[in-house]
Amino acid sequence: MARAGIVGAMTAIEAHGSYGAAQASPGANGWVVTVEPATADAAAIGAALEAVSEAAAWAGGGRLEFWVEALQASDVRSDGAERAGFVAYRDLWQLRCPLPAKPDERIPRIQTRAYTPDDLDAFLEVNNRAFAWHPEQGGRTRDDIESIQREPWYDPDGFRLYEVDGRLAGFCWTKEHRAVDPPLGEIYVIGVDPDFHGRGLGDALTRAGLDWLHGQGLEHGMLYVESDNDAANRTYDRIGFRHHQTNRAFERTVAAAPAVAAARQEAGR
Ligand SMILES: CC(C)(COP(=O)(O)OP(=O)(O)OC[C@H]1O[C@@H](n2cnc3c(N)ncnc32)[C@H](O)[C@@H]1OP(=O)(O)O)[C@@H](O)C(=O)NCCC(=O)NCCS
Repeated sequence: MARAGIVGAMTAIEAHGSYGAAQASPGANGWVVTVEPATADAAAIGAALEAVSEAAAWAGGGRLEFWVEALQASDVRSDGAERAGFVAYRDLWQLRCPLPAKPDERIPRIQTRAYTPDDLDAFLEVNNRAFAWHPEQGGRTRDDIESIQREPWYDPDGFRLYEVDGRLAGFCWTKEHRAVDPPLGEIYVIGVDPDFHGRGLGDALTRAGLDWLHGQGLEHGMLYVESDNDAANRTYDRIGFRHHQTNRAFERTVAAAPAVAAARQEAGR
């Protein structure tokens, strides 16, 4: 299990004029590892990841997670991760589509409304049912959502809800990214209550979110989706989303260093 504090490690490989610096900090699900590649090659990154894994072992061991953002066809970061015994286990795709989305007469246009603070409990219930399987988006609490809603970008008008007979059936929460080129309108979180799956609501709600974003003057839609989320990917493909980049997660689990394990045992922990 990850201990509090930050574990850092730096490796210099002078023969190649290349270095890699890695840091592991405690996250919700073990250690979150970052590497500063600068001019690093795979050997330097691998060495830095190996060193930070060892440092984590001395800090009590546990699971380490390392994300390679915007994966390239030939990527020194993933090569380095594999050299250090990390294994790829998850691909998150970024998809994009031009706005407005291409219309589809088979999909009914639905009337959504803006989120209000009174919707929090109903939202949590639908979200946690829809994302029960998801490592980050499932099991959300009131505190999680209220803290996101305090972020400067948050706009309740871009958080669209859809009700059937007074019951929340699904939602499409959007987020605007104005400081990037081109500006992007993100489908930040979309979910349909499992009782309403398979009725075309996911499609209609995604379009409602994209319509909202286009109405704000945005010309490019964007979202992140798990590569193996077939129901979502079928919907997004039909709407016109195409793959833009992959973020790949690697993991490795290290045991506590023997001296640490022995000290813990002696202390009865
Ligand atoms: C993704 C999601 C929003 C789609 O909503 P939906 O209302 O079921 O969507 P649709 O009815 O438009 O169906 C979308 C496609 O998924 C298929 N599908 C629906 N439920 C499915 C299931 N449980 N398993 C496999 N496929 C499923 C449908 O058949 C349809 O494909 P098709 O048009 O090629 O036949 C919904 O499944 C959901 O809330 N999932 C959990 C949260 C999530 O994954 N959000 C997206 C994160 S990026």
